[in-house]
This record gives sequence, C-alpha cells and structure tokens, in this order.
Amino acid sequence: MTAALRRTATVLVLGTLLVLAGCERPPVDVVQRGYRGTGMDEIYNPRTVDALAAKNVLPPDTPPVPAAGPTAGQVFQNVKVLNDLSVGEFSRLMVSITAWVAPQQGCTYCHQGDNMASDALYTKVVARRMLQMTQHINADWKSHVVDTGVTCYTCHRGNPVPANTWTRAPAQTPAYAGNKAGQNTPAPAIGLTSLPYDPFTPFLDQAENIRVVGGTALQTGNRRSIKQAEWTYSLMVHMSQSLGVNCTYCHNSRSFADWQASSPPRATGWYGIRMVRDLNEQFLNPLASVFPPARLGPGGDSQKVNCATCHQGAYKPLYGASMLPNHPELAKIRAVVASASAPLAAAASSAPAAGLSAELLFAVGSPALTDEAQKALAPLIDALKADATAKVTLSGFHSATGDPAQNEELAKQRALAVRAAIETAGIAGDRIVLDKPQTAEANVAGEDPRARRVDVMVMK
Ligand code: HEC
Ligand code: HEC
Ligand code: HEC
Ligand code: HEC
Repeated sequence: MTAALRRTATVLVLGTLLVLAGCERPPVDVVQRGYRGTGMDEIYNPRTVDALAAKNVLPPDTPPVPAAGPTAGQVFQNVKVLNDLSVGEFSRLMVSITAWVAPQQGCTYCHQGDNMASDALYTKVVARRMLQMTQHINADWKSHVVDTGVTCYTCHRGNPVPANTWTRAPAQTPAYAGNKAGQNTPAPAIGLTSLPYDPFTPFLDQAENIRVVGGTALQTGNRRSIKQAEWTYSLMVHMSQSLGVNCTYCHNSRSFADWQASSPPRATGWYGIRMVRDLNEQFLNPLASVFPPARLGPGGDSQKVNCATCHQGAYKPLYGASMLPNHPELAKIRAVVASASAPLAAAASSAPAAGLSAELLFAVGSPALTDEAQKALAPLIDALKADATAKVTLSGFHSATGDPAQNEELAKQRALAVRAAIETAGIAGDRIVLDKPQTAEANVAGEDPRARRVDVMVMK
C-alpha cells in the first residue's frame, strides 16, 4: 500500500467511526410506558444511564440546626431575606451555599474582605435575589417541583455559573435567499437540528403560544403555520434532550396535541414552561443591570433558565431526591408571607381606610405588566412610600372561559408580576398581600379586557 492509499484508508475508517458515533451502540433498554401498540416506549442506553447516575448523587450535607436564639436580622447589619433565621441556621446556610455555588472561591466570592455586611460585590446582590428565587420556586411552584423542590445545588452543582443557561441569540446573517427564520444554524441546545436555533426567546422568555395544530377544522381563523410548527418542534427537542427522554415520555404520537392521550408528565411539563417564564421574567431579566458586561449575552441580556438548567439530562433533577428536609429554610418564603397576612386578613374584610386603588389590565395569555399598568401603579407606590404603615393587597382576576387551572395560574402570575414591580420600587415584601385568584363575571359577548386584571388596593 502506498502512503497516500494508507492515508485514504485511515480517513475512511475514521470517517465511518465518526458517523457511527452518532448512533446508539447496543445494548439498549426499552421500557414500555403506554398501551401496547402506541409506541410509547422509552429507550435507554445503560452506559449513559450509569454516567448520568454518577452526576446526580446528592452532595454531602449536615442535618439542620435548631431555630433557637437571636435571629440573623437582630445580630447582623445587612440581612434582608434571611432575617428570621437563627444565627446558627444562617451560618450553616452560608457554609452550604458556598459549597453549592463557589466551593473553589469560598466566602470571598460574595464577600469582600472582612466586611460581610457590604454589598460591594455583584455576586452577593445576585445571591440575595437567588435566595428569594429558590424560596419562590419551592413555595409557589409546587405544581412543578412538588415537595421535592430545589436548592442552589440543583442548578449550580458547584459552579458559580450553572452549566446550562441561555441568552438571546444574535440576529442571523441573512442567507442568499433571504430570511432564514432562525433555521439552518444548528445549535447544541436544540440537538444540532436545522430547526429554529433560539426557541427560548419566544417560548421561555416571552409567552408565545406553543402550537402546531390549528384551533378550527377549516382554514378560517386557523392561524397556525409550518413556520410556527418548526419553532414548537425546536422547543420540544430541547425539552426531550434536557430530560433525557423521548417525545413519547409525554405524548402519544398518534396526536401530539391531544391531552387525553398524553401521559401525566406532560402536565408537569406544561407547568414547567410557565415556571421557567416566571423565573426569567421576575428574577433573571431584571438582574441584567447588576451583572458585569462579561456575564451578559451578545444582546446585553442576562443568562437565563431553561429546562436543562435544573434537569441536566435527568427526567427529574437529581433523580427526584430532595435536599429540602435538610434545608427547611429554603422550602418556603418565611416571614414575608406568614407574619404579614394574619393581621391583614382582618383588615381586608373591613372597608379600606385609604381607599386608593387601581385596576391593572393585562394582554391575553400574558403575565407581563404593560406600560399603562406601570403608570397606574406609580401613585400607589408613592402612597406606600409616604406611609410606612400602609399595606397593599393584590387580587388577580381571570376570565371564566377556557381551562380554569391555566387561568388561575395566569391570574397568580399576574399578581406576582405586580408584587415584583412594587418590590422593585423599594417596598418591602411583607407589606404586600396576595389574594386568591378570582374568576371575573362571565363575559358572554367575547373577551372583556377587565376579566384579565389585577386589582391593587392600598390600606392604612
Ligand atoms: C454565593 C454568595 C455567598 C457566599 C459564597 C457566602 N455568602 Fe454570606 N451572604 C450572602 C448574602 C446574599 C447575604 C445577605 C443575606 C440576606 O440579605 O438575607 C450574606 C450575608 C452574610 C452575613 C451577614 C453580614 C451582615 O452583617 O449583614 C455573614 C456574617 C455572612 N454572610 C457570612 C458568610 C460566610 C462566613 C461565608 C463563607 C462560609 C459566606 N457568608 C459565604 C451571600 C454569600
Ligand atoms: C433555577 C436555577 C437556579 C437556582 C435554583 C439558583 N441559581 Fe444562581 N444562577 C442561576 C442562573 C441562570 C444564573 C445566571 C448566570 C450568570 O450570569 O452568572 C445564576 C447566577 C448566580 C450567581 C452569580 C454568579 C456569577 O459569577 O455571575 C450567584 C452568586 C448565584 N447564582 C448564587 C445562587 C445561590 C446562593 C442560590 C441558592 C440560594 C442560587 N444561585 C440558586 C440559576 C440558579
Ligand atoms: C416533558 C414533556 C414533553 C416532551 C418530552 C415533549 N413534549 Fe411536546 N408538548 C409538551 C407540552 C407541555 C406541550 C404544550 C405546551 C403548551 O401548551 O404550552 C407540548 C406541545 C407539543 C406540540 C403542539 C401540540 C399542539 O397543541 O399543537 C407538538 C407537536 C409536540 N409537543 C411535539 C413534541 C415532539 C415531537 C417531542 C419530541 C421531540 C415532544 N413534543 C416532547 C410536553 C412535552
Ligand atoms: C427550577 C428547576 C426546574 C426547572 C427549570 C425545570 N424543572 Fe422540571 N422538575 C423539577 C423538579 C425538582 C422535578 C421533580 C418533581 C418531583 O419530584 O416529582 C421536576 C419534574 C419534572 C417532570 C416530571 C417527571 C416525571 O416523570 O414525573 C417533568 C416532565 C419536567 N420536570 C419537565 C420540565 C420541563 C419541560 C422544563 C422546562 C420547560 C422543566 N421541567 C424545568 C425542577 C425543574
């Protein structure tokens, strides 16, 4: 064999190996999850399952310490979230978050020198918001995380920046044939397919409709398009990949849209999508002004959460093991909700003394505050600032048509968005009381915008 021939042969052999590396090498395990004949089988590769299991072992932990003695709020100078923890609980949590987020860097990753009270480092400011986010996930998103919940470790796993985050993709360079509509730019997050490469901005930041099947039999009013379908598929590839499952984990492929034929995890996934939108909107997006430029995406936005941020290839993060029994302080929003609502429930039933109120309207399907709503809220925030004893109640209303559970969730998200806006303006969370979502008067003649509103009332 000449040298040239040998080279060609080597290239051929290597090429074949590379091509085959894309396929699953046997053995594969198949687990039947649906009725026979529906093709609802999960296909596992025992080798990747073993590797994944090793990555999903819980980190070492210590049992919780008693909540006795003076609180962190009394002892330390600048504690805003964890103020009702005992000093023992507080210190243990500081040690835990160091192990979960910055094991190499230590306390100085968030604290500068000896002055633990200083907020000079952005990492501390971010971490404070992360504490609130973690409590919010565990308290308000049980529809997705049930009692398993999350801690900083679920996303961070010992890294200051979680392994899986995303930022808005830069605009595509136009192809010779014009607008590529986000396609033919394979990205790892969507399984290197030629589907739209950034399904996250429309679906996990904005609240675009995730649909393929039209709502009507005939074309009249059927606004779904092939282009829209491709965005949906792109998100679905991300979801399957993040959870390490096939499409049939959630769907019966006879009809992807049909909820009756879908498996229960699809409903959990539905809530997951809403939760991710909420986290990005309430927590990660507003932090863009806190992060240094190097941490921001090309579009100047902050790194955000998607399904892979928590799941990291597992159908449940950490295979469903919960770290919360050892960390009850992260399981709920303490102080804020508990201490404030009891006296206020009585106050709410009597006529409000101040009587200052506003009706904030929202767009269909969206929990985002409009500019008008922001403007209407401003005088109420001023009133709250002027009187430190005044409190504010929020009640979300939703329309009586459509899926009640979805509507109720949306009403809650809207109220939470209003709460976030008031908190951002500097009003403490314990002065804001959330009421249960309510159904607006049925509006027979189409959608009444007042059905989608949050009532805000200041009370002295
Ligand atoms: C990932 C960031 C992070 C790391 C790492 C971290 N802390 Fe903190 N620390 C915070 C945040 C956030 C607060 C404020 C909490 C609040 O506002 O409720 C805080 C507050 C404190 C305070 C209260 C200071 C005051 O007077 O207000 C002390 C004491 C403290 N941390 C000690 C430690 C020690 C000791 C370590 C290392 C074992 C550590 N922290 C590691 C984020 C961090
Ligand atoms: C749902 C996933 C998730 C959870 C839970 C979570 N984080 Fe984060 N965290 C993120 C994302 C996403 C970022 C943004 C990455 C970036 O730009 O730094 C981030 C950034 C941070 C940063 C800034 C790091 C840097 O160098 O920029 C700190 C500090 C941090 N988180 C601390 C915490 C602490 C402490 C907790 C637990 C109380 C926590 N996080 C819980 C997702 C999470
Ligand atoms: C973790 C569960 C889960 C997995 C895995 C999953 N999906 Fe979905 N899928 C959903 C949910 C939830 C919706 C509805 C989203 C919504 O309405 O907000 C949906 C919607 C869809 C729709 C739109 C149906 C309609 O109403 O028009 C299609 C098509 C679809 N998925 C296809 C797929 C394909 C193909 C895969 C595999 C690549 C896949 N899905 C994997 C949960 C899942
Ligand atoms: C904040 C972290 C977090 C994020 C982000 C997240 N999940 Fe989850 N998810 C969890 C936890 C924790 C569980 C386990 C709940 C339990 O024990 O049943 C879970 C469970 C699930 C399950 C149930 C699995 C089963 O077999 O019952 C599905 C499906 C799921 N997630 C889909 C998604 C999808 C789709 C996304 C992205 C749109 C997503 N998750 C984003 C934390 C997260």
